[in-house]
Amino acid sequence: MTDTTFTPRVFSGIQPSGGLTLGNYLGAMKRFVDMQNVGGFETVYCMVDLHAITVWQDPAALRQNTRELAAGFIASGIDPEKSILFNQSQVPEHAQLGWIFNCVARMGWMQRMTQWKDKAGKNSQNASLGLFGYPALMAADILIYHATHVPVGEDQKQHLELTRDIAAKFNNDFGVDFFPITEPVIEGAATRVMSLRNGSKKMSKSDPSDASRINMTDNADTIAKKIRKAKTDPEPLPESAEGLAERPEARNLVNIYAALADQSVDAVLAEVGGKQFGEFKPMLADLAVAKLAPISTEMARLMQDQAEIDRILARGAERGREIASPILKKTYEIVGMVGS
Ligand code: TYM
Repeated sequence: MTDTTFTPRVFSGIQPSGGLTLGNYLGAMKRFVDMQNVGGFETVYCMVDLHAITVWQDPAALRQNTRELAAGFIASGIDPEKSILFNQSQVPEHAQLGWIFNCVARMGWMQRMTQWKDKAGKNSQNASLGLFGYPALMAADILIYHATHVPVGEDQKQHLELTRDIAAKFNNDFGVDFFPITEPVIEGAATRVMSLRNGSKKMSKSDPSDASRINMTDNADTIAKKIRKAKTDPEPLPESAEGLAERPEARNLVNIYAALADQSVDAVLAEVGGKQFGEFKPMLADLAVAKLAPISTEMARLMQDQAEIDRILARGAERGREIASPILKKTYEIVGMVGS
């Protein structure tokens, strides 16, 4: 733990690797908007293009996906005046601090990361070095802003624990109280949105079945159809959250409803407990369309003016550097870099 008081500052990032899903929206983006609007925090949000290239990205697609993700942030309610919004590569201090952290973090820490094991699979000798070091760059993203709070979905929890370990080891190695021990913010009904086809698998853009996920670019008809076809069980909905324990598909749909409606799971079940899915699914489809279709329409509108998106990102990068650059300079001084 540190004794220093840090400015309350939120940082989070999303990879521009194509296909923003309902999982990204409910687990991350919507909560980024809430933290922007709640007041009391500076909010910094980033399209992590350096992370995306840890696996192959076609350059033209990366450019397109970065702009589309920026449009997704803005359409979801991120106000580029209130929040700082940019793509990671344009604030070079991320990569510079990332290198320092490569020298702080240990191989064993990285080897334990479940995301590394999942992504590299059996063919780890052929994975990029960047994929292995991914969490050290992630720690740099957060700590280059001295961010105190990081809203993410459940799947990022282990990476955020590692961020805390890196901050603590740096502070300890150099005898300083310089980097904050960041708080993960993993809250709400939708920290782990599951596949619509399999309630024990995470909803993911890389699932081969498009029916398993709702994409933020899906139109109203597609959203409604995917919800109608979502896997369920034959029982009616329970009256309370405990009744969802052994029912992953039912739990997932109720969680999605609760997150979209900004209600607790218990409040939702007080309303829909006892109903059959034949009745609940159309309610969920209406709610999802009402909340998501305007976002996809606005994303498409924003994508018409790419020059404006590029201007917003360039301005965001400038503002990001204003915070990041003195923190990097101080880090270099601590480490002993002559000329810093
Ligand atoms: P990424 O791009 O995979 O996902 C972005 C955010 O979406 C959340 N998420 C989900 N939440 C709930 N249910 C799901 N099915 C679901 N799928 C994705 C993720 O938890 C995440 O919050 N390593 C990060 C990006 C990153 C980052 C950072 C995040 C890089 N640097 C610094 C926070 C701070 C990632 O790959 O997220």
